[in-house]
Amino acid sequence: MTALTASKAGPSFPDWLRDRAAHIDRVLEELLPTAGQAPQRLHEAMRYAVLGGGKRVRAALVYAAGHASCNGTPATEASLDRAAAAIELIHAYSLVHDDLPCMDDDTLRRGRPTVHVQFDEATAMLAGDAMQPLAFELLAGMPTAPALAAQAVTILAHASGSLGMAGGQAIDLGSVGRSLTRDQLQTMHSMKTGAMLAASVTLGGIVAGASSATRQALDAYGRSIGLAFQVVDDILDVTADMASLGKTPGKDAADNKPTYVSLLGLDEARSYARQLGEAAHEAIVPLGEGAERLAQLADFIVFRDR
Ligand code: IPE
Ligand code: IPE
Ligand code: MG
Ligand code: MG
Ligand code: MG
Repeated sequence: MTALTASKAGPSFPDWLRDRAAHIDRVLEELLPTAGQAPQRLHEAMRYAVLGGGKRVRAALVYAAGHASCNGTPATEASLDRAAAAIELIHAYSLVHDDLPCMDDDTLRRGRPTVHVQFDEATAMLAGDAMQPLAFELLAGMPTAPALAAQAVTILAHASGSLGMAGGQAIDLGSVGRSLTRDQLQTMHSMKTGAMLAASVTLGGIVAGASSATRQALDAYGRSIGLAFQVVDDILDVTADMASLGKTPGKDAADNKPTYVSLLGLDEARSYARQLGEAAHEAIVPLGEGAERLAQLADFIVFRDR
């Protein structure tokens, strides 16, 4: 395990993560339509959904993968900002829809009322609908070669579409009250959550001009941490409290959802998450010290308590 408190160069990991979260908050704040712009209620809901906290792990993965692959020009930094904002927008939209009464029916998110509770269901749907194209607009406007922007759009479309997040959510809803095999559960989790985390890493790499060998290492890392993220989300639903989680715990069991905890029990689920974390570390060995933040993020994802 990589030390989370010390770094060979630069700030400690918690300081770095705080800095990246504050940075992407500023970027998103600027890129979102203002609350005063019509239609105001829709823009207020979008800003509420996107700017209301969150760990910003996906944005941090974009920056860490970019810096592990990097040529470090100002244009690259501006493109990484847009890629990180795009990923956080799609993620936030997926949460708004995930919380709707027709899906998980949750009332608490990021320590506040969910968007449909704070506003109304139609506004929550429309906010999600509008956050999605905004994400693609940001990628299309990256100051990179047009072919690279097109590649980024394709990666995010695939990760968030019917073979990624949305498809995984469909499997999730179709699995209520059923017990899945381990393979089926892995497919569902890799699609609904893993795909977007893996895309964060891939986007960071391609925007920063990663070589094909680096891309391969990043892709393997992304697949492992992506699945690990949802395994730990399943664990925290059982072990964490409302204050640290910022959402209602115990929902998976209450809703009869198949999870890694229901399939394997807590101890084995924890050990699987650790195993995935180790696989992520292995994957980025070829990237050397430049991948230090990615290594730290893998540990954060596996050992987090929120
Ligand atoms: C929660 O994601 C939903 C899942 C995909 C498991 P996060 O735990 O990253 O949520 P925020 O962004 O920190 O609120
Ligand atoms: C959500 O999975 C995955 C998404 C694509 C949003 P969950 O339903 O377990 O996420 P939480 O626990 O509500 O954050
Ligand atoms: Mg859900
Ligand atoms: Mg949910
Ligand atoms: Mg969950």
